Amino acid sequence: MATILVVDDEKNYLWMLEELFQSEGYEVLTCERAEDALPLLAEGRVDLLLTDLRMAEMDGMALLGRVRELSPATSTIIMTAFGTVERAVEAMRLGAYDFILKPFNQADLLRTVAKALERTVLLRENLRLSQTLSHHYRFDQLIGKSSLMQEVFEKIKRVAGSKSPVLITGESGSGKELVAHAIHFNGPRSGRPFLPVNCSAMTVSLAESELFGHERGAFTGATARHLGVFEQAAGGTLFLDEVAELPVALQAKLLRVLDTQEIRRVGSEKAVPVDVRILAATHRDLKTEVHAGRFREDLFFRLNVVRIDVPPLRDRADDIPLLAEACLRNLVKEGGVRGTRFAPTAVELLVRHPWPGNVRELENVVAHAALMAKSEEIQQSDLPLELTAAKEWLAALDRLLPAKSPLDATLTAIERHLVHRALAQSNGVQAKAAEILGISRSLLQYKLKVLGEPEKPAT
Ligand SMILES: Nc1ncnc2c1ncn2[C@@H]1O[C@H](COP(=O)(O)OP(=O)(O)OP(=O)(O)O)[C@@H](O)[C@H]1O
Ligand SMILES: [Mg+2]
Repeated sequence: MATILVVDDEKNYLWMLEELFQSEGYEVLTCERAEDALPLLAEGRVDLLLTDLRMAEMDGMALLGRVRELSPATSTIIMTAFGTVERAVEAMRLGAYDFILKPFNQADLLRTVAKALERTVLLRENLRLSQTLSHHYRFDQLIGKSSLMQEVFEKIKRVAGSKSPVLITGESGSGKELVAHAIHFNGPRSGRPFLPVNCSAMTVSLAESELFGHERGAFTGATARHLGVFEQAAGGTLFLDEVAELPVALQAKLLRVLDTQEIRRVGSEKAVPVDVRILAATHRDLKTEVHAGRFREDLFFRLNVVRIDVPPLRDRADDIPLLAEACLRNLVKEGGVRGTRFAPTAVELLVRHPWPGNVRELENVVAHAALMAKSEEIQQSDLPLELTAAKEWLAALDRLLPAKSPLDATLTAIERHLVHRALAQSNGVQAKAAEILGISRSLLQYKLKVLGEPEKPAT
């Protein structure tokens, strides 16, 4: 049974609402003062708060501010008179679910209450889910519920146990290194080193010594014996990142090591056996590199025994909310950011963005937004993406708007157009139109009163 808390300094309203809600089977708590509501909220058993806006001492707005910290899943409905609608709208910006005008129609009120309670159930469910990110959606440090990522997880599980080389391909920032990490740490070599080596950062002259090591006196400056990464990773995994950038001369030497399982340190003829698993990654298309003569075909075949292609983020939009959530939770844990959750409209914008920089770009955007957020709830306007998204249609608007456009009249015209368009899109169903606009039905009705109803098409 859902519990509704009613706060109003007018006793008549309290009595009337208590009776109405009880007859509908709700459990009802009432308070005349907002202060008395706080301990009830803190107990966490209030599903819905229905509060008057204007009250002596602590008012509805201040109470709303406390609800979020005391009982984040509770939905709040503001009761207000027509004259104070502006403040009710402000309250919704601060997180109220909806407002209802006094005096109200009982059927309207009950409908709004039922919808707000549905949202509470959803919020509770979400809170619970986000506290325990399902283990199905997580593999090692990788997160993903999309079928594409689930396939990647399956492949990782299948190859983790073997010693076969794996070629990991995917766009920049898509998670190739995390995939390599997961392969290593879920296999029998997990107790031995996982050693990432960036092939693009190796200079030709030093690369051979870096890979295979050198003996003392092998070249000027070689004052001591140095073990290369193959020997450092002994028994473990060598992750050759950006393998396409490996200088051609070294590609032949790498191939020989893969074939013979032994290395020769620079300055020595002696072969040293090595037991290392090779994982390689590249954001390039290695076949193209082979055709262009920049990558040895035999090495390509040797590395490409098993291939895992990490899909770009735009092809797995299902994962975006989950990744953004996880990233935000890490930031909150570290501290120092204001934003702690996303407004649904902000998530929508994240899901729509094409993410050329993939998960790394997403992480940067979330970090930026969490810092820039003006309240705990991260809004669309806190996202840098909004700038790029808005740029296009602002440019279109520029082409059409007269050079001298008065602010009020222009904004009203645009607002009216959007409201009427949403009504047309939803065949006049107000609840649907409100959803399209991301506002409540009461706010839509208020806007229609102010802006005017759409003209009926001539028949
Ligand atoms: N599925 C995922 N779940 C969680 N975090 C991820 C995921 N994919 C990538 N990341 C994070 O995104 C960032 C980039 O990932 P990573 O370094 O593995 O990408 P990459 O493909 O190796 O990129 P590059 O080609 O630029 O080297 C890292 O901070 C990583 O933790
Ligand atoms: Mg990488």
